[in-house]
Amino acid sequence: MSKVKSIQISYIEYDSTKELKSIHKTLLANAKEMAEQAYAPYSNFPVGAAVLLDNGKEVGGSNQENRAFPSGLCAERVALFSAGANFPKQKILAIAIYANTEEQISPCGSCRQVMLEYEEKQGKDIEVLLMNSKGEVRYFDKSSHLLPLGFKFDNFQSK
Ligand code: THU
Repeated sequence: MSKVKSIQISYIEYDSTKELKSIHKTLLANAKEMAEQAYAPYSNFPVGAAVLLDNGKEVGGSNQENRAFPSGLCAERVALFSAGANFPKQKILAIAIYANTEEQISPCGSCRQVMLEYEEKQGKDIEVLLMNSKGEVRYFDKSSHLLPLGFKFDNFQSK
């Protein structure tokens, strides 16, 4: 016997930041600024990210590359790990991500997995906002919508 299953995700598309909450506008503006601090000499694809914490603080990140290619890291994980390392007790409310491209930026699978785990760890959804060079925004109210069926096994001790 077999069954076809389907998963639905939803997000909102805005043609500008006008309708967004001011806290999200600021977060996106900071993500855009962070892209200017990227170290991306190999890809020439600067990306900026900004994480909003429960206490109102923001933590920024930009992609950091290295000539030993796998050693680099995406902007999202630079920001998320920095928030996790410096403010481990603060919940992450939202992450904004910016790339200076007409096509909307879309986080890679590894960054989605990291968002998913922080979301689970803190028991609170992380909002995700993506912005392109035209100032168009995609809004997800939880990061798990970006990674359906993400890796959730957490029983490593029992083996
Ligand atoms: N990159 C990010 O920082 N975030 C993304 O969402 C996609 C890709 C970086 C990794 C690498 O430095 C460059 O963009 C090209 O892949």
